[in-house]
Amino acid sequence: MSSASDALNKSRLIALPFERGCVDTKPAHRVLVMAAPGDLRFPAEFQDGLTIIQGFRPDFLALQKRGLNVVCSLDQIEGTAAFDIVIVCLSRHRRLNETMLAKAAKVCVDHGAIIAAGSKTDGAGAIRKALSRLTGDLQSMPKHHGLVMWLTVDEAVRTAWDDAFGDRDSVSASGFVTAPGGFSADRIDVGSALLAEHLPADLSGACADFCAGWGYLSIAASERCPALTSLDLFEADWASLKAAETNLSGIAMPRAFHWRDLSSEPVEGRFDVIVMNPPFHTGRAAEPSLGEAIIERASTCLKPGGRLFLVANRQLPYEAVLNSRFRNVRFMAETSIYKVIEAARPAASPQ
Ligand SMILES: C[S@@+](CC[C@H](N)C(=O)[O-])C[C@H]1O[C@@H](n2cnc3c(N)ncnc32)[C@H](O)[C@@H]1O
Repeated sequence: MSSASDALNKSRLIALPFERGCVDTKPAHRVLVMAAPGDLRFPAEFQDGLTIIQGFRPDFLALQKRGLNVVCSLDQIEGTAAFDIVIVCLSRHRRLNETMLAKAAKVCVDHGAIIAAGSKTDGAGAIRKALSRLTGDLQSMPKHHGLVMWLTVDEAVRTAWDDAFGDRDSVSASGFVTAPGGFSADRIDVGSALLAEHLPADLSGACADFCAGWGYLSIAASERCPALTSLDLFEADWASLKAAETNLSGIAMPRAFHWRDLSSEPVEGRFDVIVMNPPFHTGRAAEPSLGEAIIERASTCLKPGGRLFLVANRQLPYEAVLNSRFRNVRFMAETSIYKVIEAARPAASPQ
């Protein structure tokens, strides 16, 4: 999830064009907010006609808990996707920002408004520059360590943004489909490749890929370990999971895809093998507690003789949780940046 101060600044930025009377909102208006952080505050006038898109499961769950109308992607919206106001919460991923803006223009009605808001570190300045080049009447205001911009939509805006940004969804890494803004969207991660190299070729039985991203470790395990009988992929980012589904479509092994927050939600099934390159941050700062929570979850999802194979940055302090949750822990490889660890025979405990 993003930090509380980031969400607060975004909330304030989004409110500005309404407070200043630059964008009008009526109770009957349909409002779409894309990529809202879980604790984003919305102008009070929105509540009834508000739809939120949030594909990152922890934020999705936080918004759902608040009783808000939230879906994981644009294609999950029932009926006609036509909104009077579309608000885009910018992220620090340019490709994701551009994809969202092209989609926002498509679902915004003629003479409706698009508002985009982000911090300086979200690259809001670069987005303003790009949009100003494409569209004449873009308004913007710097405030709260960021920038809010808005404009009225017509067919010319839709066409210009679609031409400029519309194909960003299909960019791939090493021949694979990846998600805009997702992990290792442009190339295979070096740490994951190191883990794949060290997977024993004789692994067998049911395998789970925790924090699967676009599916690299599952693909590698299926190629390297022919005696595996099934693959279950767990991932918090909806778009990455959809990319994984596409990337694994040619694999004969039975497989299932689960959209889960592994730090807070239980997992169905018990596995012989779990492979994992755990997340170590959600914002900019390292958060080892997130990886620790997911390692603990893995220890509860293995069969008694099960084995966890994990890669992590060397400085991440996962040894304590591994030693407390598993009877056998061994280093398989170390480089100047990464460590690859096998943890076997989990200490029994319910999820
Ligand atoms: C270091 S990446 C590894 C991705 C993939 N396994 C690979 O090797 O390319 C970690 C992944 O964990 C996902 N993630 C982050 N928080 C999560 C959570 N709470 N539950 C499940 N997955 C999470 C991220 O979206 C990201 O795809």
